Amino acid sequence: MDDEKSSMLPLLKEEHDNSPRPAGRVSPKKPSWSWTRLAVVLLSLVCGTLVYGIGIEIGSRIMSEFNHRYIQDGYRHSIPESQDSDGWTEWSTITPNEKLVWQPCFAVYGPDIICARLTVPMDYHRPLNQSADNPKVHLALVMRPGSRRTQDPSSYSDSPLLINPGGPGGSGALLAIASGKQLRAAIGTDRDIVGFDPRGVGATTPKADCFAAPDDPYGLEGRNVAYMNRLGWVTSGHDVGIVNSSNVALSKLSARSKALAGLCKRIDEAEGDNSIFRYSNTANVARDMLSIVHAWDEWRSTSSVKPAEATQKPETVDEPQTVPRIEPSDSTKGKLVYWGFSYGTLLGATFASMFPDKVGRLVLDGVVDADHYVNAVAADNILDTDAIWEQFFVYCADAGPACAFSLLGDRPEDIKKRYDDTIAWLEKEPAVVLPRYANVPVMVTASDIKMIIFSALYAPIPGFPLVATILKALVDGQLDTIVAAPISTLLCHNLSLPVWPDDAQKVIGCSDKRYKLNDDVDTLQKRFEEMASYSSFADVWMNVGFNLPCNGWDIEAKDPPMRWDDNPAHKPAPINTSFPILFLSNRLDPVTPLHSALKMTRKFATASIVEQNAMGHCTLSCVSLCTINHIRAYLDQGILPPAPRFDSDDSGEWATCECDERPWKSLRVVGARPDADGRLRAEIESEEIWVGKTDEEVGAMTAYGNLRTHLRRSEAFVQQFDYHNPLREVMLNSAMLHVNGQQTCGT
Ligand SMILES: *[C@@H]1O[C@H](CO)[C@@H](O)[C@H](O)[C@H]1NC(C)=O
Ligand SMILES: *[C@@H]1O[C@H](CO)[C@@H](O)[C@H](O)[C@H]1NC(C)=O
Ligand SMILES: *[C@@H]1O[C@H](CO)[C@@H](O)[C@H](O)[C@H]1NC(C)=O
Ligand SMILES: *[C@@H]1O[C@H](CO)[C@@H](O)[C@H](O)[C@H]1NC(C)=O
Repeated sequence: MDDEKSSMLPLLKEEHDNSPRPAGRVSPKKPSWSWTRLAVVLLSLVCGTLVYGIGIEIGSRIMSEFNHRYIQDGYRHSIPESQDSDGWTEWSTITPNEKLVWQPCFAVYGPDIICARLTVPMDYHRPLNQSADNPKVHLALVMRPGSRRTQDPSSYSDSPLLINPGGPGGSGALLAIASGKQLRAAIGTDRDIVGFDPRGVGATTPKADCFAAPDDPYGLEGRNVAYMNRLGWVTSGHDVGIVNSSNVALSKLSARSKALAGLCKRIDEAEGDNSIFRYSNTANVARDMLSIVHAWDEWRSTSSVKPAEATQKPETVDEPQTVPRIEPSDSTKGKLVYWGFSYGTLLGATFASMFPDKVGRLVLDGVVDADHYVNAVAADNILDTDAIWEQFFVYCADAGPACAFSLLGDRPEDIKKRYDDTIAWLEKEPAVVLPRYANVPVMVTASDIKMIIFSALYAPIPGFPLVATILKALVDGQLDTIVAAPISTLLCHNLSLPVWPDDAQKVIGCSDKRYKLNDDVDTLQKRFEEMASYSSFADVWMNVGFNLPCNGWDIEAKDPPMRWDDNPAHKPAPINTSFPILFLSNRLDPVTPLHSALKMTRKFATASIVEQNAMGHCTLSCVSLCTINHIRAYLDQGILPPAPRFDSDDSGEWATCECDERPWKSLRVVGARPDADGRLRAEIESEEIWVGKTDEEVGAMTAYGNLRTHLRRSEAFVQQFDYHNPLREVMLNSAMLHVNGQQTCGT
């Protein structure tokens, strides 16, 4: 296998070198610290979603200084002093087309963003050109072009980098809008970045929304009513709690799942054979990605200039290129170049198994086990979850006073006991809170706390300190500063949302199942107990979109589900792709364990893997220059880490990377100080991280950290439409540690 691999990849110079760091990326070392570097940090903060812990005062200062308006995961919040030119884009003003027609959009996020709506068949067995009334899907696309692009389409990359943030149900368009700059800075590519909303999701139409009345004639008002109905439904679920939080919780949750399934079914029946609910499974999204690749090719070929002459040179001018560039024969033209996280790895792997000769570059981070994803419930995803939570007590004790939940001289077991006691007390008696910024009583339950902790396990670097703060506020009786009211101030004004909430996670996840889930409570209880044999967080995981909430789902997906062993679209494993896939996984991941990544790696003949020695969901959860360099070398130069060797399922030898952060020793911005010119500069929690790093490396790492922030917020945001958690707001704005004061209408 090694020989075959090197013949396929003549560029793998360091293939037998065990150094995890690809050659050609080792830059000359510069002195450890400089103000320029701080400027990089500050700038990234400005462009990012302002979540790093810098506090309200500095945050708003940055926002007003740059006349910046920001979206919170799809919602726009206007900053009072910048209401002159809008710079916003309504998707409905972009005309869908069967070819790519790009137009400027979302200028509020910079001058270089362009959008398109690409029309594809809803049902690929009924192609668009067959008759006029075939149902269509209009995919929302957002491009962040590389540098020096002209009016000429051939000045763009041979194929764009498509991105998917996971979910299912995550919006790639929003990721490109809000974090396109961070993405580019993190991976240093000059490739055009294209985010798309998968069918059913976000700004792609038709939307998979069970609360919207079909053919609603009331426009914006109708949508607001749909949104309020959704909020009412979600908040009423709060008192039920998670599985096993009471002896009736499971049966109530099952009933709620069936109720929502019935609502979706009613819309589906009204739409009949043109219902998006029947055509939203992952195989169709993979076909859409191929449609995007083809449409891109066609668009680029409309150029008057020959493509070869216009090929972009990478922008690493100040760095000697010691590694040969990709040969023209390795061009990714007509192939998929893609970066997927979490569920996005399942989407990427599905694409690769359906269209193996269309694989240009695939980076799959936080890897879903495709065999188990189609099961009734995904039980063994959480096999490493408890190991991560145990580390909370260790790191908190180690951090001492920096960990808000620790007391002087605490050992890990002291902190654990305090936690257990606190939860036991809360289980008996929920905390009653009158939020400081909203005139409504709020009840905080043990379920709320447990769900917040589970979210924190996705990114322990920022998450653990936040959990410590919440637990301290809980024991001190000071939750009033951090809980939020269930109805957000977003309802104060006319809403014009690029992305209204949808039910895409449920629709996609339930459609992908091998068999529809329709269990009685006893069977569900058994499934829960089996899941609980993997982790004490089974009660939270059971509630996640594609598990218990699929119970009673009764809409037949038109396409066979993505079964790996008997789907006709699949080639038998190991699948030989036109270019090797790069898998990435943390050593301990709370929902996509390393075990799954290794298993998926073995399904593809030439795939490689990097294991990052860190905790959290996706390698993005911990910033590692080593991992960043692997991703860059792969995407830019087609260089893979050394080929993995498997002795058994979970043992063997493959590339590994250390992480540069730890909880309480991170890139988190903890303060600011003025520089010589009186400008505020950010200070990070652990400045040792910058020692020996070049400015470019610091920029990449900072951008990578900001990307993590965005993904984390997206996750928390998607979750809030399944379950109202009064502590989610502080999770979304973890930096600010206090809920934004504006919880009434007004400014
Ligand atoms: C419709 O499009 C497909 C794919 O582009 C093509 O193969 C087919 O010939 C077209 N059919 C008609 C009737 O134009
Ligand atoms: C709200 O929308 C309505 C109808 O589109 C419009 O007439 C009204 O001016 C808007 N109000 C605000 C505060 O934007
Ligand atoms: C469910 O809750 C009961 C009562 O608190 C407890 O005894 C049991 O161990 C829990 N089951 C699981 C699987 O966590
Ligand atoms: C994979 O494809 C390459 C190129 O087509 C071929 O040389 C190689 O033998 C194939 N490997 C396997 C395992 O099928």
